Amino acid sequence: MPDFKKILHTIYEKTKQLSDTGRVATYIPELACVPEDKFGICLLDIEKESYQIGDFDERFSVQSISKVLTLAMAMGLIGEKIWDRVDVEPSGDPFNHLSLLEQENGIPRNPLINAGAIVIADILVSELKNPKKEFLEFVHKVSGDTSISYDEKVAHSEKATGFKNYAAANLLKSYGNLKNDVIKVLDFYFYQCSLSMSCSQLCNTFYLFINRGKCLKNYDFLTVSQVKRINAIMLTCGFYDEAGEFAFEVGLPGKSGVGGGIVALLPRKFCVAVWSPGLNPKGNSTRGMAALERLTTLSDLSIF
Ligand code: DON
Repeated sequence: MPDFKKILHTIYEKTKQLSDTGRVATYIPELACVPEDKFGICLLDIEKESYQIGDFDERFSVQSISKVLTLAMAMGLIGEKIWDRVDVEPSGDPFNHLSLLEQENGIPRNPLINAGAIVIADILVSELKNPKKEFLEFVHKVSGDTSISYDEKVAHSEKATGFKNYAAANLLKSYGNLKNDVIKVLDFYFYQCSLSMSCSQLCNTFYLFINRGKCLKNYDFLTVSQVKRINAIMLTCGFYDEAGEFAFEVGLPGKSGVGGGIVALLPRKFCVAVWSPGLNPKGNSTRGMAALERLTTLSDLSIF
């Protein structure tokens, strides 16, 4: 393994000096309150050795990163039946885009765009008695950390302003691809997005995607085949209309969130989480993308 301690230090110092660090998301008002200069990185290798720098231990709103976890839970519950209701193609469009949904008769392009994640939320609402509680328990088990929680303020802030998500859910409903009540499904969706986690906690949680479906404590959560599929979806769809750029520059499966977090991973080797709230015009963390490009360049490790 490369000298990750040294590499993280170099990346952190170099990336901190970037003149353009992006803009904090404001369309969810509560996210606009986060200081723009936060920056942390954590890397966890397959031997469970971890390396950290900066604000790696501070919790932030994981937003769309949660879509990978709801997908994992839904796959565990209903398996391949998911693919009757959601496709697995990159969309080439922004995360909240709606026109493709109409053109393609209410079948979202993939489970990581908002419409797809809302269908996954609908599956969990159907399958679980108390979806918010049981999803949080799932995250606690996978991460081995019961201190992870939702951020009620962020959830309510998005509930008050998530007009495009109401539009997406209503479109899905009109095509018969939403089984439950729109408000009930979106309530769960806004809560899942409000999960508050640090870079360290994200690495601990995503360990199962580098360890063939077994979490840090070695319990089985997913099959090898399910992990392969989720990692493939992260590679092709994890960054919306910037998925090609991320594969090109970084060369790892990953997932971003508008809270400024990015998780990326190299199966059987390491997972890494970066947080810097300033976003580029495509909604991905500016410093996060730059830091991960440097990581795969300096370590000479990527899936390619
Ligand atoms: O639905 C939304 O708009 C947010 N809760 C999540 C969006 C997001 O994180 C997109 N990712 N980069």
